[in-house]
Amino acid sequence: MKIAMVGSGYVGLVSGACLADFGHDVVCIDKDESKIARLLDGVMPIFEPGLAELVGTNVRAGRLTFSTDLASAIDGAQAIFIAVGTPSRRGDGHADLSYVYAVAQELGEHIKTPVVVVTKSTVPVGTGDEVERIIRDSGTDVKFAVVSNPEFLREGAAIGDFKRPDRIVIGTEEEWAQGVMKEVYRPLFLNKAPILFTSRRSSELIKYAANAFLATKITFINEMADLCEKVGADVQDVSRGIGLDGRIGSKFLHAGPGYGGSCFPKDTLALLKTAEDYNSPVRLVEAVVKVNDSRKRAMGRKVIEALGGEARGKRVALLGLTFKPNTDDMRDAPSIAVVQTLLDAGAEVVAYDPEGMEAAAPMMPAVRMVESAYAAIEGADAIVLVTEWDAFRALDFGRVKGLAKGPVIVDLRNVYDPAEMRDAGFSYTSVGRP
Ligand code: UDX
Repeated sequence: MKIAMVGSGYVGLVSGACLADFGHDVVCIDKDESKIARLLDGVMPIFEPGLAELVGTNVRAGRLTFSTDLASAIDGAQAIFIAVGTPSRRGDGHADLSYVYAVAQELGEHIKTPVVVVTKSTVPVGTGDEVERIIRDSGTDVKFAVVSNPEFLREGAAIGDFKRPDRIVIGTEEEWAQGVMKEVYRPLFLNKAPILFTSRRSSELIKYAANAFLATKITFINEMADLCEKVGADVQDVSRGIGLDGRIGSKFLHAGPGYGGSCFPKDTLALLKTAEDYNSPVRLVEAVVKVNDSRKRAMGRKVIEALGGEARGKRVALLGLTFKPNTDDMRDAPSIAVVQTLLDAGAEVVAYDPEGMEAAAPMMPAVRMVESAYAAIEGADAIVLVTEWDAFRALDFGRVKGLAKGPVIVDLRNVYDPAEMRDAGFSYTSVGRP
């Protein structure tokens, strides 16, 4: 089957490469000529484990190509995915749909054979209706259907998530379009991955509801962690104790500095906007957004407290900057607020991240980026673990002790063992643990 993927960013590139790997003939399209030129040279625009290899294999097999020319690239495609960005609109948090609508307009002008247009971008309820209207109003008489097919990919694990999904959601009530989508995902169908057919609007809402629910789960355990600190309980035990209840589930109950990334912050805001537009407030999600925002700065204050309440003139080493490990993505990373709080309090900040420093540097020009964890630790009064990269799990703490100036460690991801840290002579603080 020939498939066109419009938008070769994170979602488009991962989805396109995986669909090519299933055996489809895929073209990834992007307006950004330098991005396409680099992809043609085998250079990935993002860091995602396994992606460069997957792209390389499928390009060599002739199943994956790249193009900047939408009109010719979509020729003969039976499914065209829209996978362009939907950033938060400045001012009101609504998803900015201008890129999605621009693609719909172009498709309306250029489709020549019957085609299923699949919205993969995260879009608010009702966007599919608008995409359909735009294509129809372009005057085309070609048969088409507009289908919603949200992605649930986690950065850093996106290829595995695409190939072994918990479920595939397909929003269309048109039978012929369902048939095309079954063909697209046939290899997964054979693997018995549950495929859920719903109305387009239900499918659009499923994506937001899933992300809002996960953001709520994280925020819930984060507030429990705060309470644990006050009452002398251990959030890891609370998490395990509730997570073993099958109705609750153990995942996404890891307390930390608050959620960040390209999805949760933006999608929760967009859901609030939709709820407001339809006069159906989602107060729980409103609270989640507020609590998570204030938590990020609170983590900076936690570091200052660990320094004895005074950060002026102290040097703080940050280990990890990205919003989570195995990505170079700095979008809405808690580190940004932690850094700002520390700088505001007069601290000097030194940081190391295995993949995120290039993206982080322009966002935090006052922070000195160094080439290793140990280089960051040298001369530091406090060491703060912000992102749980594997490389930080097995630090040589004898060496750390010798390099650091102060004995303070603030572990915002509960990676280290409190007893071991104390035995090693550190003044150790973590999240929600005695
Ligand atoms: C998320 C969703 O998981 C994915 O299905 C969706 O399509 C896109 O958004 P992603 O943003 O890549 O994926 O990261 P995820 O692993 O979900 O983590 C999001 C944030 O929550 C990170 O900042 C992470 O550190 C934080 N988190 C996650 C916690 O603080 N605790 C947890 O238990 C889990």
